Order: sequence, then C-alpha cells, then structure tokens
Amino acid sequence: MPSGKVALIGGTGFSILKDLIDVHAEEVETPFGLPSAPLVHGTLSGHQLVFLARHGEHHIIPPHRINYRANLWSLRESGVKYVIAIAAVGGINPRIEPKCIVFPNQLIDYTWSREHTFFSEDLSHVTHIDFTNPYCEALRALLIKAARNLELHTFESGTYGATQGPRLETAAEIEKLARDGCDIVGMTGMPEASLAKELGLCYATCAICANPAPGRGAGEVSMDDIRANLAEGMEAINRLLREVL
Ligand code: HPA
Repeated sequence: MPSGKVALIGGTGFSILKDLIDVHAEEVETPFGLPSAPLVHGTLSGHQLVFLARHGEHHIIPPHRINYRANLWSLRESGVKYVIAIAAVGGINPRIEPKCIVFPNQLIDYTWSREHTFFSEDLSHVTHIDFTNPYCEALRALLIKAARNLELHTFESGTYGATQGPRLETAAEIEKLARDGCDIVGMTGMPEASLAKELGLCYATCAICANPAPGRGAGEVSMDDIRANLAEGMEAINRLLREVL
C-alpha cells in the first residue's frame, strides 16, 4: 500500500478492527452536519486507518438517510487519501453468486433526492467533475492483486447499479437493470462514489454478494440468507484488507 491514510467505510463484521493499535474515536462536525458515526482511528501493520460505520454505530441509518456528504467530508478533513468502501449487493449477473466479492469498475445511478454534490452553493463558477471512471484504478489494482494473492473468489470488474431503497427491487426492475448492463445492485454506492471524486479521494468498492438479486434466485429474498452470506463474505474481506495493507 503506498503511503497515505486509508479509510474503511462499512457496516458490521470487521474483525480487523480488533487488531488496531493506538485506537481512538473522534466526533467530527462538518459544514454538512454529522457523519454517520464518530471516526475510529488506529494503526495496523504500520498504516494509519480510519473506520466509519456507514449505517451508524447501532446500524439504524437506512441507505437513503445516510449523510454521505458529512461522511466523505469528515474523512477528507482527517487527512484520508484512500477510501475502501465495503458494500453488500445483490448479484444480477448469474455468474456472481452469494459470498463472492466484486470490484466494480463502473456504475449506474438510479438513486434520487439524496444530497449528492458539494458543488451547489457559494460557487464562484459551475463545476462539473469528470466521472468517466467512477472508481480509482490505482486502488482497484491493489485490491485485485491482494485478492489474487489469497486466491479469493472474486470478479475483477462489473457495473454497480445504485438503487434508492430501503426496499429491495422488483423482479422487473432487476430485469431492467440487467438490460442496462448492471452486474450487481446495492443501495449505498451513490452518491458516495461521486462525492469522493469531488473531494479528490481515491475511492474503490469491495462489494460482497449477499443474495441473488430479486427474481434471480429461487423464490423471494430471505433476510436470514443475506445475513449468513454477509457474515461469511466478511471473513474474506477481513483477510483481503490485511493483505492489502
Ligand atoms: N438489492 C439492493 N441492495 C442490496 C441487495 C439487493 O438485492 N442485496 C444487498 N443489498
């Protein structure tokens, strides 16, 4: 890993956090309000890490209510350069089965009504960022190399469809996403990726397939299956993060 502070944005199941040394939590306020949780700072293998619980300390903030602007702003303010986003997704591409890890290289945004930019007030000029490649190739390459070293079951590219939630999609919506070219579907990928890019952060996603997307598996989506697959997927993610650091 090149020098520069690394942030992890994710939910529960980070056993890696137990190995951090010099840990302290920091309450941060931003011009956009409070992030989802205090930032947890620590050091692992000589690298400074910052952890942010995307859905809050008690996992009660739904995807459409997350303060994405405060989250990314607080990480940038604390000197972060690299952001590894851990996200649960449904698999649309039939080859992407539960528990495997995807490093998306493209995305399509279907979310609406979320605060999605830092460039809307007090502007001296209208700003358009380039978003041709939404994820940071340098960080994706590091993650892919680490996953190859560990021989993990991964997909090294794919298109992430970001939906509004908090409900899951209908089978017809997933058919439409498939026609659009989406391989995976999740609810938190946007505006997280574009806000990171607006701030010049190097941002990449490790997506864990939690379930076949609605209409793609046998029957309806079961929350118990999602939980079980995520718990197993997180073991691979913890190994991957140790390797990448
Ligand atoms: N759809 C949207 N978001 C998700 C899914 C899904 O099937 N699984 C986990 N997050």
